[in-house]
Amino acid sequence: MRLSSQDSLQLSRRYLDLISGKALAQDEIHAFIAETVASYERYVNRGFLTYRKSVTESGQFAALEWSGSGSILRDVLGREYIDCLGGYGIFSAGINHPRIVKAVTDQLQRMALNSQELLEPWRAALAKILAAITPGDLACSFFINNGTDAIEGAIKLARLHTGRHVFLSTLGGFHGKSMGSLSLMGKASFREPFASGLQDVRFVPFGDATALEAEFAKADAVGTPFAAFVVEPVQGEAGAVVPPPGYLRRARELCSRYGTLLVADEVQTGLGRTGAMWGVDHSDVAPDILCLGKSLGGGVMPLSAFVSTPAIWECLVPNPVIHSTTFGGNPLACAAGIAAVNVTLEEDLPGQAARKGEWFLRALGQMQARYPQVLSESRGKGLLLGLEFPSDSIGYRFAATLFKRGVLVAGTYSKARTIRIEPALGIADELLQEVLNRIEDTVKEIAVSMQPGDRTGAAAHPTPQRSSAELVTSDHG
Ligand SMILES: Cc1ncc(COP(=O)(O)O)c(C=O)c1O
Repeated sequence: MRLSSQDSLQLSRRYLDLISGKALAQDEIHAFIAETVASYERYVNRGFLTYRKSVTESGQFAALEWSGSGSILRDVLGREYIDCLGGYGIFSAGINHPRIVKAVTDQLQRMALNSQELLEPWRAALAKILAAITPGDLACSFFINNGTDAIEGAIKLARLHTGRHVFLSTLGGFHGKSMGSLSLMGKASFREPFASGLQDVRFVPFGDATALEAEFAKADAVGTPFAAFVVEPVQGEAGAVVPPPGYLRRARELCSRYGTLLVADEVQTGLGRTGAMWGVDHSDVAPDILCLGKSLGGGVMPLSAFVSTPAIWECLVPNPVIHSTTFGGNPLACAAGIAAVNVTLEEDLPGQAARKGEWFLRALGQMQARYPQVLSESRGKGLLLGLEFPSDSIGYRFAATLFKRGVLVAGTYSKARTIRIEPALGIADELLQEVLNRIEDTVKEIAVSMQPGDRTGAAAHPTPQRSSAELVTSDHG
């Protein structure tokens, strides 16, 4: 309903007061929580109210995100959560890393956005830094604001450079939800409603080099060679799925043999998450296009990029605005990116992820041996970890119960029974041990309440707050 200008002004003033830190009494906080829930219902999407455990599992008052630092997230009531979700991978450097916040505030005080005409120094600086830390001949960067747009740009670049229009992707792959990036999506439920508008893509099972080779040969035989093979070095949304050794090397060889670009989607795996700077580093492979996002903005600003070689980039030179965007490469985001790389290197986040991930995965494996009826599998690389449960309802119950114990995790987009664990890479060892303790308490509680032979958890599980259809997917936005 349209309000008068006076009333709208009043509304905005009230929210600005809260943003500026106006103190509220307890009953005012409760009223604000109720107001936010009502606004979600009416003005955002009421689906989220049954979808998010921060509403369904947080007792009388929904959890409203308010502040955070490092690995600790606080709601407006001051309740604390150990963050093992990492904002789906954006908080690799932790929440509000002080040096990243400082770089952004320093730039904010000088100038927030760009004129679009003068040269932007931090865009050039970040591109130069990325050229210095990425594999092979990768040297030229285009900056945007989310992973989806990085993939979108990679698709356009691959089409432009190769003159081909058919792409190859993997089953279970996740590359975003715009019409271009959605074409590469390896899961039906997100594709089907938009199917006829999607571009031409073939799919191969992830990690199967023989199937990959056969697909390349087929495409070649019928004269529809691929512009690009788009692949995550470790599938994130599919549940931290690690391919067998040698897979990416084989993919590199096949791409080179058939004139296809290898696009590494490192939106989630990049900047140390898997225990190396890049996921492709585990295989010593240089892609033709590298897509980055999430943690590139240091958990402070939205920032993504696609990076390629000067030879491939040449097709963008004659008309440099053939692909362009207003906000991409803005000074705040690039300042965040420069600081994010600095923190990644200075704190050796890849090394920390490798060490902590190995320890954590070993401990999870031991726990799995103690509770095989609850925990089916644990896997992953570095601190991109996945826990597999025997059913969606047990997976959901695990995430919900752990939330009540003050640890934030979530399902993956593929299924609620696959839970992801993505803490800050610098998470303190003691905090990681605490997470492990709370995971074990949760797994034990589920094990004790299960009937013998029960693999669904239904007997032990009070009616889920989500429908079974909702349980199939995570709360991935
Ligand atoms: C591997 C990968 N690619 C692309 C995307 C899309 O990124 P965004 O949600 O920032 O658009 C995601 C998001 O989860 C991702 O994990």
